[in-house]
Amino acid sequence: MRLDPINLFDFEARAKQALPKHIWDFIEAGAFDEITTRRNRAALEAIALRPRFLVNVWERDLSTTVLGQKISLPVMLAPAGSHCVAHPEGELATARAAGAAGTMMWLSTSSNYSMEDVAGVATGPLVFQLYHRGYDLTEMLVRRAEEAGYVAICLTADTPVPGPKERDIRNRYRRPQGLELGNFVGEPAMLGLVSGTDEASNWDAHYTPPLTWSELEWLRSLTSLPLVIKGIRTAEDARLCVENGVNGILVSNHGGRQIDGTLSSIETLPEIVEAVKGRAEIYMDSGIRRGTDVLRALALGARAVLIGRPLFWGLAVDGEAGVRMVLELLRQELDRAIAYCGATNVASVNRSLVALPGEAGWVRNA
Ligand code: FNR
Repeated sequence: MRLDPINLFDFEARAKQALPKHIWDFIEAGAFDEITTRRNRAALEAIALRPRFLVNVWERDLSTTVLGQKISLPVMLAPAGSHCVAHPEGELATARAAGAAGTMMWLSTSSNYSMEDVAGVATGPLVFQLYHRGYDLTEMLVRRAEEAGYVAICLTADTPVPGPKERDIRNRYRRPQGLELGNFVGEPAMLGLVSGTDEASNWDAHYTPPLTWSELEWLRSLTSLPLVIKGIRTAEDARLCVENGVNGILVSNHGGRQIDGTLSSIETLPEIVEAVKGRAEIYMDSGIRRGTDVLRALALGARAVLIGRPLFWGLAVDGEAGVRMVLELLRQELDRAIAYCGATNVASVNRSLVALPGEAGWVRNA
């Protein structure tokens, strides 16, 4: 008898069994030696919780708001290309699962279904993630996102050149035949440009200079939608975001998929929270696998977190229902962790609930 997965690591193991090796590698890969990918997990695990007791935690509420949108738990689905590698319903299944769980999906520029198709089935708020590959392309994507009802634009800043994933190089990975880049069907010129997203093998042929700080004003002026920058890893860049009127900062190292050898996202979070001083919302991704990880990120100042690879595991195991269950497991785990910390809602999770390595206890890297 096969038992249902009881945590995200069970989903990971099932997905690995279900998917062909080159697809599994495409999803799991980090850049180069995958040091940052591992560090994301190690650093989260090294943060100890400081539970509090004899508090009435009978009624708990995990809901919060992101850019003014209410979500039922502080976990969202990160923008990631090609959900159809894991399930034929791809981003449609993911969007339905996000809506059912009462949370927000962030849709990648490199989705297999178009942003309009995804908006057509979504019952929850959607954010459109933008890869800038030229001014015309960006303008076209932003306009379409506005018209399709997306609630914010998220510019991914951390991919000025592609981050080679050696697993993909060894596997000679290419986007599987038959999988479109849904936002560019019927737009061959644009497709050429956008195949230079982070997963592309022929990127050099389509190099587009990245957007720079001085051009952020141009992007701001294109739309009145809130703007989030994804991939920020230093206090210096976080300050520039605030100076440029950015509404949200997604502290992320792309799950270790771009430059290897950086700090983990959770280690980066405190310096960014300190630099931003409440002037923009701050979210975090990279390595979140447990409800206790969500709690750790909230305690260090994130408003909400996002998950990337686990959504592919959910899709591979059971499509929409799989993604729903991944979110449900995180909800249950977070709910329990919050109760153990004497908190009853997301706003009451604070810095006193965690001890960083060296701050307390004497076992380093336990
Ligand atoms: C990604 N990610 C990503 N990010 C982005 O801004 N645009 C994109 O198109 C993609 N594509 C993508 C594909 C795949 C297969 C993965 C696994 C990830 C990165 C993603 O948004 C997020 O930052 C990380 O996945 C978070 O780390 P974890 O949760 O995977 O550890």
